[in-house]
Amino acid sequence: MKTLVALTTLAIAVSPAAAVAVWGQCGGQGWTGSTVCDAGSTCVVSNPFYSQCLPGTATTTVSTTTTATTTSSAPGSTTCSNRTKFKYFGVNQSGAEFGGSAWPGTWGKDFIFPAPSSIDYFVGKGFNFFRVPFLMERLVAPATGIAGPFSSAYLANLTTTVNYITGKGAFVALDPHNFMIYNNAAITSTSDFQKFWTNLAGQFKSNTKVIFDVMNEPNGIPASTAFALNQAAVNGIRASGATSQLILVEGTSWTGAWTWVSSGNGAAFAAIQDPNNNTAIEMHQYFDSDGSGTHAACVSSTIGVERLAAATSWLKANNMKGFLGEIGAGNNADCIAAVSGAFCSMQQSGVWIGASWWAAGPWWPADYFSSIEPPNGLSIAQVLPQALMPYL
Ligand SMILES: *[C@@H]1O[C@H](CO)[C@@H](O)[C@H](O)[C@H]1NC(C)=O
Ligand SMILES: *[C@@H]1O[C@H](CO)[C@@H](O)[C@H](O)[C@H]1NC(C)=O
Ligand SMILES: *[C@@H]1O[C@H](CO)[C@@H](O)[C@H](O)[C@H]1NC(C)=O
Ligand SMILES: *[C@@H]1O[C@H](CO)[C@@H](O)[C@H](O)[C@H]1NC(C)=O
Repeated sequence: MKTLVALTTLAIAVSPAAAVAVWGQCGGQGWTGSTVCDAGSTCVVSNPFYSQCLPGTATTTVSTTTTATTTSSAPGSTTCSNRTKFKYFGVNQSGAEFGGSAWPGTWGKDFIFPAPSSIDYFVGKGFNFFRVPFLMERLVAPATGIAGPFSSAYLANLTTTVNYITGKGAFVALDPHNFMIYNNAAITSTSDFQKFWTNLAGQFKSNTKVIFDVMNEPNGIPASTAFALNQAAVNGIRASGATSQLILVEGTSWTGAWTWVSSGNGAAFAAIQDPNNNTAIEMHQYFDSDGSGTHAACVSSTIGVERLAAATSWLKANNMKGFLGEIGAGNNADCIAAVSGAFCSMQQSGVWIGASWWAAGPWWPADYFSSIEPPNGLSIAQVLPQALMPYL
């Protein structure tokens, strides 16, 4: 999850008739509905596939593309026919990355690892995947750099968590939650990053239920740079002898599904090479107005399908598999329908192998809108049974 997203500020003219309500979709490739917003809001281009009516006044006029592709419907789970189940389905387990710049920080004060009871809860419901974010500065100290030795205490914590999860028969994705930034500077050395991954994968190469998630949400760097670093990581992981495990690569622009093609990730990551042919593209998607995952309200009940459509098409066209590593939304009817529609479209496409909800974790505040930490996280009562479990 990221904290902010820049929207481009192109806008189209407002006129009074046949208008789209604020937050509604008003354009984008394949859009055949109205491109006019209600008075007081403006149609803003988010990306080539999506324009949205945002509060505010129009300033400029541009035209949006309206090619004649069809938009799939967003059926509820009861009508989601002919679907392929996810191979991996579960939740993020936040905590080890908490405490931001407290390096190395103190276990139980600055950061925490997932609660075994929370793991048990989801395994008991039939989920089989956990994404475990951690901070690189705690695992490899800035004094020695990312290619340096591991902190034995933090590695021991991580290994305990990994072994607990895989001991339950579930998969665990190791997620350096660093946005391609280490020690307050952009990671640029492909050779150092490759070495980091050779070292880390080497620790877990004999555990076939471990998944290597190369880097959480690179952003502010060219897609080609994100690609080069991810390719180096894939090479490093395989060089460690970890040849059977799944690898997940993430692109720039917070690896957003809705901007996967427009950000340049599509063009760059089509070239990813894995000698073991077991790498999938991890994307993230939220359904609030700016796609940041910071608001409980969803744009509409169909926004899930809409924001994933272009990414699904790209995966199909490039013969790649997708993994929605973060999806989150509020506890309300629009969001439940949006999430259900998203999962249905993903499972019907056959190109998405997994998904994980954002997020469980012992330290989320009680009012965090997409907490799925049992027993009372806000996503537990309705979102879990209505929008997640039907897709197990
Ligand atoms: C998990 O939680 C963190 C928040 O600490 C967030 O930044 C991240 O994107 C979420 N996804 C995962 C798997 O952590
Ligand atoms: C993490 O390490 C601390 C000590 O460094 C220990 O007290 C704690 O039990 C560990 N937690 C896990 C989940 O391994
Ligand atoms: C990976 O896929 C390529 C292309 O389909 C194939 O030539 C190669 O043998 C595969 N490698 C493995 C290890 O399966
Ligand atoms: C079911 O889905 C598969 C894969 O998406 C598709 O090829 C097939 O035509 C679908 N079958 C029906 C009956 O819709």
